[in-house]
Order: sequence, then C-alpha cells, then structure tokens
Amino acid sequence: MTEPDIKKGLAGVVVDYTAISKVNPETNSLLYRGYPVQELAATQPLEAVAYLLWNGELPDAEQLAELRLTERAHRAIPDDVRTTIDLVPLDAHPMDEVRTAVSLIGARDLAGSGSVLDASGSPEQNLERSIRLFAVLPAIVAYGQRRRRGLEPVAPRDDLDYAANFLWMTFGEEADEVVVDAFNRSMILYAEHSFNASTFTARVITSTLSDLYSAVVGAIGALKGPLHGGANEAVLHIFDEIGSAENVGAWLDQALAEKRKIMGFGHRVYKRGDSRVPTMKAALDTLVEHYDRPEVAALYDALESEFVARKGIYPNLDYPSGPAYNLIGFDTLTFTPLFVAARVTGWTAHIMEQLTSNTLIRPLSEYNGPDERHIDGYVADT
Ligand code: SDX
Repeated sequence: MTEPDIKKGLAGVVVDYTAISKVNPETNSLLYRGYPVQELAATQPLEAVAYLLWNGELPDAEQLAELRLTERAHRAIPDDVRTTIDLVPLDAHPMDEVRTAVSLIGARDLAGSGSVLDASGSPEQNLERSIRLFAVLPAIVAYGQRRRRGLEPVAPRDDLDYAANFLWMTFGEEADEVVVDAFNRSMILYAEHSFNASTFTARVITSTLSDLYSAVVGAIGALKGPLHGGANEAVLHIFDEIGSAENVGAWLDQALAEKRKIMGFGHRVYKRGDSRVPTMKAALDTLVEHYDRPEVAALYDALESEFVARKGIYPNLDYPSGPAYNLIGFDTLTFTPLFVAARVTGWTAHIMEQLTSNTLIRPLSEYNGPDERHIDGYVADT
C-alpha cells in the first residue's frame, strides 16, 4: 500500500487564492493589496491601511474622513459588555477576556437576526461589523490592562487618531509623537499576513457560512498560542529570564540543551528572515533612544546574533515587537491582545473575501486506528 502524501501542518500547501496580501519568502517581501508594507508603515495611519485591506484601495481624503467618523463613533465599550468583562477573573489571560468580549458583542449584534441561514451576513453588514470591531477593540484591550492594575477606565477621545487614542485610553495621558508613530507602525505590520494560522482559522469558520464574530473569536483562540501571536508575550518572558546581554550565552546553552523553542525566532514561510523585522526594529530603536534604554538594545542584539550564529534561525515580527511594547508601557500580557486589535483588520478582510467565492473547507485524513472490529454478542437487527 502506498503511503499517503500527508502535508502535516499544511506546510507548503496552497489552498486558495487571496488578493489581500502577498508574502514572498524569495524576495523577503510583504505586499498589502500590492503596496509594500514598509511604505504603508512609513506613510499611513492604521485607519487607512484597514480601509485598504477591506476595500482593495487606499482611501481618498473623503473616504478616510468617513471611516474615521464611524470608527470614532464606536470606540466606547457598551456598558453591558464592560459589565461582562468585569466578570472575567483578573488573573485570567487577557486573550480570554478579549475573546469573551468579542463573543458577547457578536451575540448582541446578531440578536434577532433570524435563522442560522442568515448568519454569514451581507457584504455591507460584514464591513460594518468589521469597522465596529476595529473601533472597539482598543478600548477593550486598554480597559483590560487598567482593570488589572486597579485603575479606572479612560474614555476614548474623538479628537485623537486611532493609535494616539489607543495609547490615551491605556495610559491616561497623551503619548509623544515618536511613541504614537512607532505604535502605529507596529499595528500596520501586525495587520495582515495571508493564510497564517489565525486567519486560516477564520476562513475555515467562515467557509461553513457561520458569522463574522464566530470567525473572529476562533481566530483569537488560534492567535493566543505561543507558536503564533502569543510569541510576542513569550519574548518578554525570555528577556526577563535572561536579564542582561552578558547572560545570553549561558542561557542559550541551557535553553537549547532543553530543546526549547526560542520565542520570536523562526517562521513557517520566511526562512531567511521576516520581511517586517527591519521596519519594526527601526521603530524599536527609536523607542530605545526615546526612553534612553540602551540595555534593551544590547540584550536584543546579543540574543539575536548568538541564536542566528548557532541555529541560522532568524527573528520574526514578534521579536522586536515585544520589547517595543514593553518600553511603551504595555503589560507583557497585553501584547497579544494588541496583535488582535491590529489583525482584526486582516481577519475580517479574509472573512469577507472567503464569502465572495466560498467553498466549504474540509480536508481529508488518513486513518491509522484499529481495524474494523465488533461488540461481543452484538447481533444486528434483521
Ligand atoms: C507568527 O504564519 C504567519 O504568518 C504567522 C505570523 C503572522 O503575522 O501571522 O508571522 C506571526 O506567528 C510568527 C511566529 C511566532 N512564533 C514564534 O516565534 C515561536 C517560535 N518559533 C517556532 O515555534 C517556529 O519557528 C514556528 C512555529 C514559528 C515555525 O516553525 P515551522 O515552520 O513549523 O518549523 P519547525 O518548527 O518544523 O522548525 C524547523 C526546525 C526544527 O528543528 P528540528 O526539530 O527539525 O531539529 O527548526 C527548529 C525546530 O525545532 N526551530 C526552532 C525555532 N524555530 C524553528 N528551534 C528553536 N527555536 C525556534 N524558535
């Protein structure tokens, strides 16, 4: 019997077309609807990139103004959603808190919307749902960090762009422009990355014609894992373990002897470095200078050079993002929820794309369990 050609982890398997982004490991590049992500990160607010991912073109001034008006109108957490967030244990992981909040927002929005046959919604409904999730997630993430610190929530301000308002709601003060810019760049870099595990999860859920909120909740669950979005949090745990640059060699000796995965390094698609890292590293460098924390750069550089030298495995986006978010003042457990707030744009773009030419996603498996066998004494009804 010939062995089946099993592609574990779907590694290298092309399962569909997408017009949303192109990840090219040969040229180490990433295009969002044809634009290099580096150019978008250097010139656009995240709101404009969200529009691009959803609609296929960058917004003109009028379209951006209209999106901003809608986004700002939906930034506040509805009272009953906040009450529900308050029921989540303070020592629960913030990704569980975000997942719970999105699930409730979906239940509220879909209440009374008819049978399951209507679940997938119209393109107009899904675009509106996408904008509303994009708008409210910063407040959910910011509130989560503040309540774990025993602080009162800070209401959104509609005179601040998305990134500045996110920082305002989190820290209760206006961030310096250099911090807002670095944060905005990180969120653009995190927004979209083709058929990564969480996005593909969203597409699988959507392919059954389930609703957008169910797909986003599933994607949040997938992103939480340390092999995926949870890695940016895990990078800081590693930095805390190592302490300072001079400890890197000994730490790596032990970690590799224990066959640990070094979080923030490696990638299923990029094998000679993640196209987004240079842009995020430059943002990290501006933050290191702004906050005068050269020891962070020293540790970052020491671990990168040592691990690359030993294993030839390069950093991914989570490696520079973790220390950047730490410098800005986000709690380590808040890092992956930040990834959710950015990637909800990519997830929802893929959900809407999946619906335009949907086929139920249902792969095959090769059975390797017990041969057919029967219950003792069972006699089939004749
Ligand atoms: C993200 O897909 C996306 O696009 C994801 C993402 C996005 O924007 O959506 O880019 C975001 O998830 C980035 C990845 C974040 N995860 C981490 O940083 C966790 C650490 N990385 C590894 O777990 C790993 O690199 C993966 C999971 C990311 C990718 O692994 P692959 O492609 O499945 O490769 P592999 O695990 O089979 O590794 C090949 C070899 C193995 O050695 P052997 O068992 O063959 O001897 O390389 C080793 C691995 O052990 N290896 C690592 C390693 N990464 C690979 N060894 C130690 N540390 C690592 N980080």
